[in-house]
Amino acid sequence: MRFISLLFSSLPLLLLYGCQSHPVQQKTKTTTESTPFSKTHPDPHSFSRHDLVQVNHLDLELTVNFKEKILEGFATLTYKKVDAEATQLSLDTRDLKIKRISAVNGSKTPKLNWHFGQNHSLLGTELIIDLPHDGSPIKIQYETMPQASGLQWLTPEQTSGEQPYLFSQSQAIHARSWIPLQDTPAVRVTYDARVKVKRPVKPVLSADNNDQAGADGFFEFSMQQAIPSYLIAIAVGDIEHQQISKHVTIYAEPPVTEAAAYEFAETENMIEATEALYGPYRWGQYDLLILPPSFPFGGMENPKLSHITPTVIAGDRSLDSLIAHELAHSWSGNLVTNALWQDAWLNEGFTTYIEARIVDAVHGEDRMIMEAALAYEALLAKMKTMPVDQQKLINPTFSIDPDDYFSAVTYDKGRFFLEWMEQQVGRTVFDGFLNGYFNHYAFQSITTAEFIDYLKLHLIKKHPKKITVEQVNTWLTEPGIPTFFNPPTTAKFSTIDSLVAAWLGGNKSLQNIDVSKWTTQEWLHFLRALPKELSLTQLAALDQAFNLTQRQNSEIAHDWLLISINNQYEAAYGRLIDYLSNIGRVKLIKPLYEALMSNPSLHNLANNIYQKARAGYHPIATSQIDKIVDYQQVLEN
Ligand code: BES
Ligand code: ZN
Repeated sequence: MRFISLLFSSLPLLLLYGCQSHPVQQKTKTTTESTPFSKTHPDPHSFSRHDLVQVNHLDLELTVNFKEKILEGFATLTYKKVDAEATQLSLDTRDLKIKRISAVNGSKTPKLNWHFGQNHSLLGTELIIDLPHDGSPIKIQYETMPQASGLQWLTPEQTSGEQPYLFSQSQAIHARSWIPLQDTPAVRVTYDARVKVKRPVKPVLSADNNDQAGADGFFEFSMQQAIPSYLIAIAVGDIEHQQISKHVTIYAEPPVTEAAAYEFAETENMIEATEALYGPYRWGQYDLLILPPSFPFGGMENPKLSHITPTVIAGDRSLDSLIAHELAHSWSGNLVTNALWQDAWLNEGFTTYIEARIVDAVHGEDRMIMEAALAYEALLAKMKTMPVDQQKLINPTFSIDPDDYFSAVTYDKGRFFLEWMEQQVGRTVFDGFLNGYFNHYAFQSITTAEFIDYLKLHLIKKHPKKITVEQVNTWLTEPGIPTFFNPPTTAKFSTIDSLVAAWLGGNKSLQNIDVSKWTTQEWLHFLRALPKELSLTQLAALDQAFNLTQRQNSEIAHDWLLISINNQYEAAYGRLIDYLSNIGRVKLIKPLYEALMSNPSLHNLANNIYQKARAGYHPIATSQIDKIVDYQQVLEN
């Protein structure tokens, strides 16, 4: 029942979006297709009609075929009719080969009629199945294709070991490329899975993991809490595991395990800190899977088993805020989920706020504030490049590409909005409010409108002098950052600013700057505080004093390489080639390609690096970077 009211509450927004005919801004996607949806579809990014029929359980049986780069097997869907008159089930698919669809009625499996419906370059293909009259589960025999957008198949050379590797990345709308389902965050399913692999590789899923295969060669998994489709995940490889604390086990390729166990040793403390703030961790285990470096994101909050880039293994735990972030999603995102991708800030803004609270509790206020100040500066810089509509938390610009709803605004403006509320009412009150919110909406998917109603009732009404509806509206519907927000500042960064000024003014030599106690965050601020234009002499002096080209910390190296490209500091190009050839995390590589392409004399360098490195990148990365370096052109040359 509450699901239906949820749909209705978001309907006016949907209608608004549906009517809008603006071209998608700042996108270089090749599609010229417009949305295929009539106004009746509850989620503009899915063919699902969960207002008619809603899937509630998924049973997967998959065989992993590395040779052909395909998954083959069965998805059996259990569902309930929301509308008693419904006669068909519409599912999302992309690049799936459907072989047979049947009802499951005891031992009988009578065939069901089905056909493909609409097709869309970004959204995939609608699969329409006639419902069995008795409501029995629907079993789909299918196969994925090697180009599945949600899977990456790695050769042994692309891993740290001798075996091939496979991993999924379902968020936002890629689950449909490896499972036929209702691929919308508004629908939640429990799932069971049986997965067959050829030894010695092993599968791990976002579920209760099982180390032993049965006699038939299948590993069995079970996820008993209802989750949205974008949280269904699989990885297969030479994956070992090492328990590091009560709730935390590291899964990784053998050469990486020890370093990861050291780097992420604070994870158990992070769980305890978050529980103290927002109530129990409800997912049993919180394990970490360290992926090969081609993983396109920093992390992905797959329940029970976050997927983590190895690029945060810095050796000093200085980048483990990423773990705080993915862990925080166990409350904001996985427990209370954005019902539509337009509401992504409910996942990412809340999570970025909680991440900061965890970092504060575990690493102390200094580090939390330095990270806040870095994020704030980056947010302001980013917003300067964004059309005003995209600077709003409630974004009236409809985009058919859900990735457009994940930006610095979604993450950091969302985060600072919550931080502002915390400052207004005080920590104790705000912590209690959020705790109540997670409890109230646990295991549900909600819209921004629902959050605002809850906020009005449970916070604003109780503290009308501290937070007003007008102020909240300013945060949500105006571009930029409200003038009544106090930006984060730290004396540590002011000190660095003075040192930079002194060096540039010739009043201090680099050798006389005491960097011995600088943290990663101070280095990042230092690099960002340098002027945009630096002479080769200055660059060489910096490099010589601080060995920047050889830094192994991926974030520091990234910022230095960016400076090097922008100022054509050729001594760093070897390291740049190495960096771009070995890392596939979009956040770290995309800005470097953009910087290279912004200078015509560096196009050749960019294209040459990309042509070699591309094979190692994930489809999510290549789909973005192809357009930056104009990959087609590279092929023709
Ligand atoms: N859920 C996101 C990753 C994501 C977002 C995947 C949108 C697909 C579509 C994850 O929690 C995340 O935000 N990762 C960040 C972490 C960072 C902000 C600490 C990343 O990957 O950089
Ligand atoms: Zn996130």
